[in-house]
Amino acid sequence: MKVDLLIHRAAWLLTIASPQGPKVGPAMGDLGLIEDGALAVKDGRIALVGKSSEVRPQAEAREEVDASGRVVMPGFVDSHTHLVFAGSRVEEFEMRLKGATYLEIMAAGGGIMSTVRATRQANLEELLAQSRRRLDRVLVYGTTTAEVKTGYGLNTAQELKMLEAIKSLDETHPVDLVATFLGAHAIPEEYKGRSEEYMDMVVKEMLPQAAKEGACFCDIFCDEGAFTLAQSRRVLEAAKAWGLGLKIHADEFKTLGGAALAAELGATSADHLICTPEEELRLLAEAGTIAVLLPGTPFGLGEERYAPARRMIELSVPVALGTDLNPGTCWCESMQFVIALAARKMGMTSAEAIVASTLNAAYALGKGAEAGSLEVGKKADILILDTSDYRDLAYRFGGNLVARVFKGGQPVWPKEVD
Ligand code: NIG
Ligand code: FE
Repeated sequence: MKVDLLIHRAAWLLTIASPQGPKVGPAMGDLGLIEDGALAVKDGRIALVGKSSEVRPQAEAREEVDASGRVVMPGFVDSHTHLVFAGSRVEEFEMRLKGATYLEIMAAGGGIMSTVRATRQANLEELLAQSRRRLDRVLVYGTTTAEVKTGYGLNTAQELKMLEAIKSLDETHPVDLVATFLGAHAIPEEYKGRSEEYMDMVVKEMLPQAAKEGACFCDIFCDEGAFTLAQSRRVLEAAKAWGLGLKIHADEFKTLGGAALAAELGATSADHLICTPEEELRLLAEAGTIAVLLPGTPFGLGEERYAPARRMIELSVPVALGTDLNPGTCWCESMQFVIALAARKMGMTSAEAIVASTLNAAYALGKGAEAGSLEVGKKADILILDTSDYRDLAYRFGGNLVARVFKGGQPVWPKEVD
C-alpha cells in the first residue's frame, strides 16, 4: 500500500485501542501496547498499525521516521479548558499567597469578573493574539485536540465574540478545538441581585445563538457563589432541547447535587467532582457520564483535597483528565503535568492517567470516533516522546517529554526551520 508516512521501530507504541466507548474499570490500565511498533498514515488518517515487522513490508512510504528508543502514542486530548481570555490574575494569586481564598476574592468582585472585564475590553484581534500564544504552548506539550469554553463575556455579544475567537483559532491553528457555551459561568456585575433575569437571558437569548454559532456543548458552574442546582437544571434542559451536549462544573467547592443532575440528564461529562458523594458517583457510572477530573485546579489553589479518582475507577465511572487552563485557578497548558499530578494526588496509575488524557478525554468531547487512540481510520494525531518508557509521563514532571507532534499526519512540532 502507498502511504504518506511510516513511523516504525518504536520501543513501545501505545494504541489505546478500544472497540467501543471510553475505557472503564480495569480496562483503564490497558494501553494496547505494541513492542517494536509501527504505524502508517494515508490522507491524514491511520492506515496500518502493528509490529514493525508486519507493517513495514506492507507500506510503501513517501517518508519514514525511525522511532527507535522512543514511545509513540496518540496526541493528548485536553477535555476542559478556558483557554480564550484576556489579561492575567497574577495580582489575585499574590493575594491568595497572603491568605485570601478564591471564593472571598470572587465575592469581592474579583475572580471570574476581573477576567470578564479584561475580556470585554479586548477586541477580537487582541483576544486572538493572547489566546493563540497559549494554544501554541498547548501544542508543544503534545495536545492535539482541546475543548474551549466561553464564559468570560457574559452578555450575548461578548459570548459570541468568544465563540468567534474559538472558531477562528480552530480554523487557523493545528490543534482541533471543540467549543462549549458557558454563559452561566458567573452572574455579571450588571445583573447583581437579579440572577433569574440573567438566567432568562442565558436561556432565551444567548443559548439559541450559541447553538447556531458553533457551540457543541453547554456547561454551567453549579457551585456555591455561582449557580444553584435549579438554575443548572433549567439551563441544561434548555441546552438539551437545542441539541447541545451537556457538561457541568460540579462539586468543586460545595456538594449541590450537580453530579446526580448530570447523570439524570444524560450529560456527556461532569467536571471537577472533588466533593461528590459516593451515591452520585454510582449514578454517573450507570449513566455512562464521564468524570472529567482536573487535578491542576486544587494544585493551583494550593488546596489539599482532590477528586477520588481511584474510587471512581473501582465504581466503573469513566474517568478523563483535563488541564482546566484558566487565569484564576489553574494556568496550566500541559497535560503532562496533569498526568504527574493525577498519579500523585488521585492514586491513578501512569497507564490510567494516559488513557484518561487521550481516549476517554476524546469521548468527553464527543470525538471518540476520531481522536484519542491510534486505530485504523482515526485521525493521525501522533506524539513521539523523548523516552522509551511511557511511565516517565507520570514519573518525571515540570518538563516536556514530547519530541515531535504530527497532526493529521503532518509534522507540526518542532516547526520546520528553513
Ligand atoms: O473551572 N470553576 C469555575 N471556573 C474555572 C475558574 C475560572 C476562573 O477563575 O476564571 C474553574 O476552576
Ligand atoms: Fe473550569
